[in-house]
Amino acid sequence: MDGSVRRWRALSDTAVLLDGFHALKHALRFGARVPAVLTSDKAAGLVLADELAPDVRERLAELAVQVPAEVLRGLVPRAHPTGIAALALRPERAGHLDALGQAHRAAPVVVLDNPRNLGNAGAVIRLAAGFGATGVVTTGALDPWHPTVVRGAAGLHYATAVERLAVDELPAGPVYALDPEGKDIRSVTLPDDALLAFGSERSGLSAELRDRADELIALPMRPQVSSYNLATSVGMALFHWSASSGRPAPM
Ligand SMILES: C[S@@+](CC[C@H](N)C(=O)[O-])C[C@H]1O[C@@H](n2cnc3c(N)ncnc32)[C@H](O)[C@@H]1O
Repeated sequence: MDGSVRRWRALSDTAVLLDGFHALKHALRFGARVPAVLTSDKAAGLVLADELAPDVRERLAELAVQVPAEVLRGLVPRAHPTGIAALALRPERAGHLDALGQAHRAAPVVVLDNPRNLGNAGAVIRLAAGFGATGVVTTGALDPWHPTVVRGAAGLHYATAVERLAVDELPAGPVYALDPEGKDIRSVTLPDDALLAFGSERSGLSAELRDRADELIALPMRPQVSSYNLATSVGMALFHWSASSGRPAPM
């Protein structure tokens, strides 16, 4: 146990915290390298795997080291009710930039322009993973790999390419920027290589992003409602893309 705790401490400044069983399950499924897994109740963790994710049971049994609950609480600020925490290596930025910049993307890139809310960013990454989006790019100060974002995304950062870039570094491709003043999204077919851009919770799309946009598009909304929540807007736009793209649902 002492060796595992030492290893945890050595990795914790640079690795990605996977807080709880579900985040670890997703990260393992999508190929994360996970050098440290601690649990306050390994038997309970394996029962959870038997019930909910038998595909990762064997890996969990190999990787998980049991430590007293107070030791886990000392290492992880908000211990998850499942009593499991893990540290995963962050994927190489270069690989993500290649995926985001590829010439014939099969699915959109979601761009969050200066998002402020960590929970929203996590929910968006979870949506992007579910719809098989190429990636999620954020502009501005928010770190899309912040532990609260990873928690909100249930570890699904490993299922898509998540990076922070400046507006002038965005990958090539047509930019469809979501704005209540735009053209009705229902009259638009979103191409697979689109960049779907969304404004910040506070102030909407920045001037820079508007300049880069090829089209402003709006989600249907009744008069007197000023806007939707950022993550729900992303969900509607990705659903619209998936419904009109003619591509099979991601497997
Ligand atoms: C909470 S809203 C931003 C509200 C902000 N106060 C403003 O002034 O725009 C966050 C983002 O969600 C998207 N959004 C929300 N409602 C929308 C709608 N009806 N049509 C298109 N985009 C919408 C936009 O990209 C918007 O910038």
